[in-house]
Amino acid sequence: MTERTGVIIGIDLGTTTTEAAVYRNGKVEMIPDFDGNIAVPSAVGIDDRGNFVVGAKAKAQYVLAPERTAIEIKRKTGTGEKIRLGEKEYTPVELSARILDYVRRYSEAWLGETVNRAVISVPAYFNDIQRRETAEAGQLAGFTVERIINEPTAAALSYGMNHLEEESHILVYDLGGGTFDVTVLEMFEGVLEVKASSGDNRLGGKDFDQSLVRWLTERFEEKNQVSLKGDIFAESRLKTAAEQCKVELSAQESAVVRVPVLAEKDGCPLGLEETVTRELFESLIAGDLTRTRRPVNVALSDSGLHEGDLDMVLLAGGSTRIPAVRREIRGLLGIEPSAAIHPDYSIAEGAAVQAGIIGGAVETEKSLVMTDVNPYTLGVRTTDGYSSDVMSVIIPRNVTIPATRRERYYTAWDDQDTVSVQVYQGEYASASRNHMVGEFEVGDIPLAPAGKEEIDISFSYNQNGILQVSAEVVSTGKVSSLTIDMIDASLPDEKSAEEWKKSPLAREFRSLIRRAEKAIRLASAGGDGESAGELETMLAQLKYAVMKEYRIRAEELEEEIREYLNSGEENNE
Ligand SMILES: Nc1ncnc2c1ncn2[C@@H]1O[C@H](COP(=O)(O)OP(=O)(O)OP(=O)(O)O)[C@@H](O)[C@H]1O
Ligand SMILES: [Mg+2]
Repeated sequence: MTERTGVIIGIDLGTTTTEAAVYRNGKVEMIPDFDGNIAVPSAVGIDDRGNFVVGAKAKAQYVLAPERTAIEIKRKTGTGEKIRLGEKEYTPVELSARILDYVRRYSEAWLGETVNRAVISVPAYFNDIQRRETAEAGQLAGFTVERIINEPTAAALSYGMNHLEEESHILVYDLGGGTFDVTVLEMFEGVLEVKASSGDNRLGGKDFDQSLVRWLTERFEEKNQVSLKGDIFAESRLKTAAEQCKVELSAQESAVVRVPVLAEKDGCPLGLEETVTRELFESLIAGDLTRTRRPVNVALSDSGLHEGDLDMVLLAGGSTRIPAVRREIRGLLGIEPSAAIHPDYSIAEGAAVQAGIIGGAVETEKSLVMTDVNPYTLGVRTTDGYSSDVMSVIIPRNVTIPATRRERYYTAWDDQDTVSVQVYQGEYASASRNHMVGEFEVGDIPLAPAGKEEIDISFSYNQNGILQVSAEVVSTGKVSSLTIDMIDASLPDEKSAEEWKKSPLAREFRSLIRRAEKAIRLASAGGDGESAGELETMLAQLKYAVMKEYRIRAEELEEEIREYLNSGEENNE
């Protein structure tokens, strides 16, 4: 192991734009790219000579060559979906890594020194796979990822840095391009305590663009009696034009959308020109705006605060420039939102402050103490009288971390000498619907009647995403434990497509996996996309379980897949 030294930068890897910042000489500085842009489009493309292009160049080629340009990559993070660029397919991790690699190179050029350490922000509501993939992208880009920080926490840190003396309850409202995050914090004497966070990973400016695109498409198709379905050129042009129109509508009451050539009919080019009023736009996004209410209410109630206790609403994210969004906040919370932080830069700034604290660049007398919460519930799978698939909560969501919690469990049947501890993350009452993050077996339990032997399971979860799980057989004092690195860059589903073969469990599951793969091919060839999809999901879970050596889970999935395959064969007869 080598110890890394040198500057640590903060990076806000956004859905639409990416920013980098550094803390030095007692303040935060934003880092411009080679062309002087601070907000760098999160776009990656392949140019006509086959080279990768990133940032403004990639965004510029999106309208001309959407088939070899990727935007909104962050939205695909953790989904296992691939992104096609020209001839080849890439994972979201590979493409995010291209963006981060670009950030690393321009930061080196601007700072004049080697840059290989970073703090990267993610939406508070990102799950563990999404966090891991982000960290993995950082590593692929040549960074040691010192910490993954929640975006709203970063925004609050950027505010807190300049308001150390204040005592207040703050709600950070971050509506960006692809995600919505709400975090409630308390600040006093330089301590910044995150009370609760909530959000929606699939809600942001892109959805507003999409609503407008849908409206424009319908109008165009109706007027010209042509269909734009499946036309990626038309889509990229409309998306770009819709976003521009949306931005204009934040400052003016109406805007004109013009696309000179959108489609062709009988050899003639067809253009589009529409006037969109703010009122129309607001009616198109009304449904999305309604969806912002729940996370606000959940975060508030989880934090134990009431509306009246809030001193301030801090706005972050480009979409908070929309007047209707601000009106929504005023209506919901009765507070005039504050523009005390820069909506586009504050998250990178806060990540840089965190980087400065880790690297020692932030002087101690200025230093903020920050606590965070875990956004998802952590627990183990247990049995009750009715089901063997119960999620038993050990650390509930929105508990301040670092946190340690212990729960006591009992043997379920006579002479039970082993217990399998399966660790899950998520909010569902049935464990298997949540995401499994680890498992291990506790053996050597003394033989006794059901319920006589006690097992204490304790979880310790810290800000670096490390979950320590230990299980103690109370009567013997024997302890087994497991460390789960929630942002460890190993895995994810994408990788398990091949990686499972290396697992010691591979041999046992190989023939079933082959059989399922064949069934998927047959189902999709036969046009049965639904069965193919269902099987694919189960198979991906199985490969993942095999890869991670989760034997118990793998055996369960084996059974499910077998049943599914067998019932399919019966139906076909
Ligand atoms: N003046 C404006 N009016 C309306 N929307 C705007 C304005 N300026 C920027 N936006 C929108 O804000 C979004 C980008 O915001 P931001 O850069 O904060 O998001 P991001 O960090 O890329 O995404 P996320 O945080 O969701 O990953 C885009 O959808 C953009 O169209
Ligand atoms: Mg953002």
